[in-house]
Amino acid sequence: MKKRILIVFGGCSTEYKVSLTSASAVLAALDRGRWEALLLGITEKGQAFYYTGKEERIKENSWQGEDCFPAVISMSRDRHCLWVERGEKLEKISFDIVFPILHGKNGEDGTLQGLCEMAGIPVAGCGMESSVIGMDKVLAHTLVSLAGIRVPKSVVLESAGEYEREKDRIEALGLPVFVKPVRAGSSFGISRVTNREDMKKALEEAFAHDTQVVVEEAVDGFEVGCAVMGNREPFVGRADEIELSQGFFDYEEKYTLKTSAIHMPARVSPEDEERIRKAAVTIYRALGCRGFARVDMFFTGEKEIVFNEVNTIPGFTAHSRFPSMMRGVGMEFPEVLDRILELAQEE
Ligand SMILES: Nc1ncnc2c1ncn2[C@@H]1O[C@H](COP(=O)(O)OP(=O)(O)O)[C@@H](O)[C@H]1O
Ligand SMILES: [Mg+2]
Repeated sequence: MKKRILIVFGGCSTEYKVSLTSASAVLAALDRGRWEALLLGITEKGQAFYYTGKEERIKENSWQGEDCFPAVISMSRDRHCLWVERGEKLEKISFDIVFPILHGKNGEDGTLQGLCEMAGIPVAGCGMESSVIGMDKVLAHTLVSLAGIRVPKSVVLESAGEYEREKDRIEALGLPVFVKPVRAGSSFGISRVTNREDMKKALEEAFAHDTQVVVEEAVDGFEVGCAVMGNREPFVGRADEIELSQGFFDYEEKYTLKTSAIHMPARVSPEDEERIRKAAVTIYRALGCRGFARVDMFFTGEKEIVFNEVNTIPGFTAHSRFPSMMRGVGMEFPEVLDRILELAQEE
């Protein structure tokens, strides 16, 4: 019997468009002999629709319209279904697993995972708790440092006005610093500040995305990532490396790679790669991750591993880092998806 997968795409998030690309790639790779895909699209404003139109229209962002029917996921543990408004009638559409392919707020951050947990519906990827933690850069740093892995020094601000009060601690971080919203993604609201005059603007930009902002010391060295999959016995893909030639890995660079490059595998010694992969598993465990996540770290000139962040729903396009790191250990994308959905059922 084929399992019915409710793929949730879009999202009330600044990363709405990124989700459309990821979801299209997942739909293209999903083994339809094993899994039947049902689609729940969330608009940028947060309206939820059961979508019955052509899958190609998701990527083009032209899916909203006549093939959309307002829908809700039932909260009742004996249902595992969508209630769909079809004119005056309510239609019940059952499914087995929810696969959220949403990035950022309202989807990657534990909100949808919480709803699924309440309804007793298996959800692919991290559960509510680790999703909340993964989205919160400060919370994640606190837990990872307790697990014995270095994290960047930082100062957290609740308002731009707090800057004056925390000035000494912030200046002690040196320059440059990174100013970031505590909960965001795709580098939205992040600035690399190289002189103090630019601080005000950087804080404004970060506070436009969140009510908490973190100012972090710049870690010298380069960024490495590791794809991790599994529930209690996680396994890891190869580590990759981001080579920057200027600035930092901002939104434009992430999706165009104009001046940066991704090396898979990372250009480090086999011993160092092993250390990076081990650290990724330690972090995954410390944060209580399940299913899959991409763990991002820095590798310094002194060969030290410093935690950056965990992405509980990493980019999933055919060229994305997570699938490519898994391909590095012989697992092609359709198999990654099979495994993700099996892991969701095992939990
Ligand atoms: N403390 C830091 N030191 C050096 N570079 C950083 C630091 N924090 C962030 N960056 C750079 O900014 C990018 C985006 O920051 P990140 O914390 O990963 O946010 P996002 O969740 O938006 O990806 C990173 O990929 C990296 O290039
Ligand atoms: Mg990042």
